[in-house]
Amino acid sequence: MGKCCKCNGRLLCMCLLPCMMTGHLLIYIMVTIFVTISYAPPKMTIHYIAPGISANSGALASHPLSPFWNLHLEHNALWNQLQHSLDRHYNPILRGNATGTLREPKAKSSSHIRNRCLNACVSRMCSDPHLYDVNSIPEEMRTFVRSMHCRSYPILINQPTMCKRKGTKSSLDYPMLLIAIKSQVGNFENRQAIRETWGRSGFVTGEFEKKGGFVRTVFLLGRQDSSTGPHPDLKNFLDLENQKYGDILQWDFRDSFFNLTLKDLLFWHWLQQYCPTAVFIFKGDDDVFVRTGALLTYLNKRWEEHKQRRTIPDEPHMDLFVGDVINNAVPNRDPSTKYYIPESFYKGAYPTYAGGGGVVYSRSLAFRLKEVSQRVCLFPIDDVYLGMCLLRLGLAPSHHPGFLTFDLP
Ligand SMILES: *[C@@H]1O[C@H](CO)[C@@H](O)[C@H](O)[C@H]1NC(C)=O
Ligand SMILES: *[C@@H]1O[C@H](CO)[C@@H](O)[C@H](O)[C@H]1NC(C)=O
Repeated sequence: MGKCCKCNGRLLCMCLLPCMMTGHLLIYIMVTIFVTISYAPPKMTIHYIAPGISANSGALASHPLSPFWNLHLEHNALWNQLQHSLDRHYNPILRGNATGTLREPKAKSSSHIRNRCLNACVSRMCSDPHLYDVNSIPEEMRTFVRSMHCRSYPILINQPTMCKRKGTKSSLDYPMLLIAIKSQVGNFENRQAIRETWGRSGFVTGEFEKKGGFVRTVFLLGRQDSSTGPHPDLKNFLDLENQKYGDILQWDFRDSFFNLTLKDLLFWHWLQQYCPTAVFIFKGDDDVFVRTGALLTYLNKRWEEHKQRRTIPDEPHMDLFVGDVINNAVPNRDPSTKYYIPESFYKGAYPTYAGGGGVVYSRSLAFRLKEVSQRVCLFPIDDVYLGMCLLRLGLAPSHHPGFLTFDLP
């Protein structure tokens, strides 16, 4: 019995032990599986990504994979420094803590420097000039730097009723095209040529007998630049011209090449106040020629396309900016040219921009440009400045082969 029992016990042990071990293993596996199944991954917040190029396509807009602002100043030229501070000031993420974790170009009293830079870019105090250590740069450039913080100048000749409907007090016309021409007091002939030819105000039929539109023309002037030599006083002639044609806008600033950017800014303000119903704007110089009918045909087509595409019926918002687009341009470093920009003032390439001879943009984009220009330091070359503003709106000008700035065949 005892032997047998012993024998059975051993057999039993030899059978049971592996069974028990397998059982444990099974339990372990089951528990593991159960835990794995019941584990829920942490909830991820899904960020809203706006629809892409066409709202109907369903494709999502590309979104940045890394921060799209510059934490560090790349170039320490004057404009770059001022703009860097301004960018930081308006960046909602960096603003709260700009001095705590981030390196400033000069770490000591960074907030003081920031404020000074801010004032240097956008300030209402036009009276006190800003003096930077820019002695090595040409006089004209220095003149620009001294007043680059100032951007509001009183209007001397205004056209408050330009876009008013005739015979009414407050209702406005809807000109399809507002032509805004940068001119100078002395250029009477150019203005008259434009008035009598392509810039005639009134209804213009489209080319190829397509739909046309109403056109209004204004000329953008500063104050005669007396620093370039003696000039006859043309004020009375200008008043006479304005009485006859009523199409002059003049502001109280020196009409010099580096001050041309002011005309864009002040014109946008004027547009919003006095002609906010214009659909498109052509902005150009007074020595260009435009096939107004062809332009209207093109704009009508774009406007129709836009109206069909938009998803919100009464939403007039349209971003259009066309011209002769220049890519990958770099500043001119030849001191003998009028476009000369010294390295101590600006470093880096220019953003994509459209040649200033003539560009067309939509009214709603003009308003957005006006807003964003508050955040961009003045730059002495006007068409580059517009490129800088567009860049900050996340836009780029689009090229149209009909704009011929250089090689006119
Ligand atoms: C700023 O940074 C410091 C340290 O880097 C941090 O303790 C503080 O909470 C931050 N403040 C804000 C407003 O983000
Ligand atoms: C621009 O105009 C203002 C006001 O007349 C003047 O003080 C400034 O020197 C001008 N700047 C340039 C570069 O001519």
